[in-house]
Amino acid sequence: MEFKITDKRDLNSEDYLIEVETRHIAERWKPGNFVILLLHPNGERVPMSVQKAEDGRISMFIKKLGKTSIELYEKYQVGDCIDHVIGPLGNPVELKRYGNIVLASDLVCGHAENYGMAKSLSTIDGNHVISIQSFPNKNEVYPRDVLAESVCHEYYLTTLDGSYGLEGHYLDVLRKLLDKGRVDIVFAGGDIAKLRDLANLTKPYGIPTYVTVRQIMVDGTGMCGSCRVLVDGEMKLTCIDGPIFNAHKVSFDEVLRRLARFQKEEKEAMEFYRRK
Ligand SMILES: Cc1cc2nc3c(=O)[nH]c(=O)nc-3n(C[C@H](O)[C@H](O)[C@H](O)COP(=O)(O)OP(=O)(O)OC[C@H]3O[C@@H](n4cnc5c(N)ncnc54)[C@H](O)[C@@H]3O)c2cc1C
Ligand code: FES
Repeated sequence: MEFKITDKRDLNSEDYLIEVETRHIAERWKPGNFVILLLHPNGERVPMSVQKAEDGRISMFIKKLGKTSIELYEKYQVGDCIDHVIGPLGNPVELKRYGNIVLASDLVCGHAENYGMAKSLSTIDGNHVISIQSFPNKNEVYPRDVLAESVCHEYYLTTLDGSYGLEGHYLDVLRKLLDKGRVDIVFAGGDIAKLRDLANLTKPYGIPTYVTVRQIMVDGTGMCGSCRVLVDGEMKLTCIDGPIFNAHKVSFDEVLRRLARFQKEEKEAMEFYRRK
């Protein structure tokens, strides 16, 4: 099977969009599902969220972070093929009437999910979808056509330095919406430490809050145990029990600790890639 790249472009100085032909996944994907990419037989398997699935293709937003994400950016062009795209994996969000839904994101993976969830949830009667997306500054804001603005009912864009949109983080906008009683449920993805702050913010208001947990994955099908996470004191696997979990029950400190456990090896893999 061929997984041909049909689009690739910069979103900002660190993130890029890649679109891949994969009819099988595009027809089955639902918001919340993720995929795993394997560039070539010697490559590493990297999980990615999906922004949208249309016409037999899926689009992803990817951060140039380490060996695989940089190799894909530097060595693969439109028309080239990726060895494997595996999915859809994980559990999708339940598409139903929730009322006032806030979707919040501040990082590449969260922005992809924000768009995908907004597009589907906003078509359901009785839902009012409020999307909040945060970027570091004006220069790092994504192009308009990939922002969730066009697929939600109410939209807020923030920059941390106030150079575009509202000044601050999505947490600042959310706090005001909570105070006005305008939130029935929150879904968020992105920076894990900020997701921990989000959980602490919404808990006293008693607002159900769900977050996409990123953890280091290998097989993505529940076999290796690499992606385990503590939820309400119980061990869960991010790939098959998640990746979306109740934020008020996730042990974020444990997530952060486990995410950092291969930093030495990741640095070495990057150095090896650069030497080749
Ligand atoms: C469910 C899920 C959805 C994700 N969605 C996106 C997305 O939409 N866009 C995006 O840019 N990134 C996403 N990620 C993170 C992405 O998988 C990592 O950034 C990627 O694996 C980094 O690989 P690398 O070789 O480029 O960098 P490396 O140098 O190998 O790793 C850099 C950092 O990425 C994380 N990471 C590394 N390997 C893995 C792995 N196998 N599984 C999970 N995390 C890993 C670790 O925190 C690590 O410190 C997602 C992760 C998960 C679990
Ligand atoms: S990635 Fe192996 S159990 Fe989840």
